[in-house]
Amino acid sequence: MSQTEQALSILDLFAMKQQGEKISCLTVYDASFSQIIDQIGIDVMLVGDSLGMVVQGHSSTIPVTIEQMVYHTLNVSRTRKRAFLIADLPFLTYCNAETAIKHAAKLMQESQAQMVKLEGAHIETIRQLVRFGVPVCGHLGLLPQSINQLGRYKVQGKQAQDAAILLHQAEQMQEAGISLLVLECVPAELASKISHQLDIPVIGIGAGIDCDGQVLVLYDMLGISSHLPRFCKNFLEDAESIRQAILDYHTAVKETAFPSLEQSY
Ligand code: KIV
Repeated sequence: MSQTEQALSILDLFAMKQQGEKISCLTVYDASFSQIIDQIGIDVMLVGDSLGMVVQGHSSTIPVTIEQMVYHTLNVSRTRKRAFLIADLPFLTYCNAETAIKHAAKLMQESQAQMVKLEGAHIETIRQLVRFGVPVCGHLGLLPQSINQLGRYKVQGKQAQDAAILLHQAEQMQEAGISLLVLECVPAELASKISHQLDIPVIGIGAGIDCDGQVLVLYDMLGISSHLPRFCKNFLEDAESIRQAILDYHTAVKETAFPSLEQSY
């Protein structure tokens, strides 16, 4: 295995944060895209439950099941060689520690996921997962699984009080043992503060340039989703191929050229 093919571990992602190297991440749902994304050198592949919307055509991520997450993550893992692989725990599969452990075990044992991601500051559940050896990625800011409580997809943490709560939750989650944090749709200034405050890498989506890395939904950055969020860029627009578009995204993240101010809140 050559240096570039060496599989990344969580330690490599920590080292990138310490050395100031931005972490590139994309969502992926199948073996063909996994192979391309992996060969290009994207650092982290996230099998997101966004597949409920972009693959299955639902209006939210809520209908996605643990079996579907296992199916897609296993497909992705078959062609993955280097990228670190994270998979989402879907809606209500982590509503208490026991349930979370059962579903995390299924995802990690049946699909080769290296880490599971869950939405919200479920401190005790995170603590228990970590205690039993499950690496956990947190997710704060806009929580798509809570869309029916939120009413619509919108920026979170704009008011000082909400921003303080998010920062506090991020610190509590780090203390509980998460290894990574995804911040979705929060003001760039707040994301910058959280990224600097935490020792673990913070990956932003609609969270400005100062996060330790960036993630986008694959179909959004290829411009094939029905709606392109403001924080996203269609990288295929100026590229000759899908491969080139993904490479351009990877380069833009590494060179801190994405997101721009217009793509931030
Ligand atoms: O499900 C997903 O694709 C995600 C990203 C938006 C971070 O959680």
